[in-house]
Amino acid sequence: MKRVSFLFLALWSLSAACGEKQDPYSRSIPLDSGTGVVTYTAFIEPILSQYCVSCHASTVEGAARAGAPVGVDFDSYQAASANAESANSYIQAGAMPPSAPLSDEDKALVQAWLDAGLPE
Ligand code: HEC
Repeated sequence: MKRVSFLFLALWSLSAACGEKQDPYSRSIPLDSGTGVVTYTAFIEPILSQYCVSCHASTVEGAARAGAPVGVDFDSYQAASANAESANSYIQAGAMPPSAPLSDEDKALVQAWLDAGLPE
């Protein structure tokens, strides 16, 4: 019995170590400490708030949008997840925000959020 649980533990730590190596985000980016997942609330909302919603928000209208297409908003989970794929393309290409590209770490977080299936 002791032997079996030791073997299980050894295999478990081995697979955990391998999993870590394969995950390109695990080394440099702190994930949500509770779940190990890049969630909208913990990581993505702060990025979008800082870099996107000055133009892309449901509350920003007319000239204040600075040309940001109406309906392409990032001020709620619903809006952000509906526009996530095109947002990610623009972000990874460095085309949004228009002023300057996001940091590599923020780009990786947005990509990780998509890869994880847009968890809220
Ligand atoms: C200074 C205002 C401004 C900010 C800040 C800004 N955008 Fe934009 N965005 C625009 C304008 C103007 C366009 C339309 C021109 C274009 O497509 O390049 C646009 C277009 C887009 C589009 C294409 C929409 C479509 O369907 O045509 C996406 C996606 C987008 N922005 C995402 C973002 C994201 C994500 C951020 C933050 C990382 C961001 N934008 C920050 C002004 C802004």
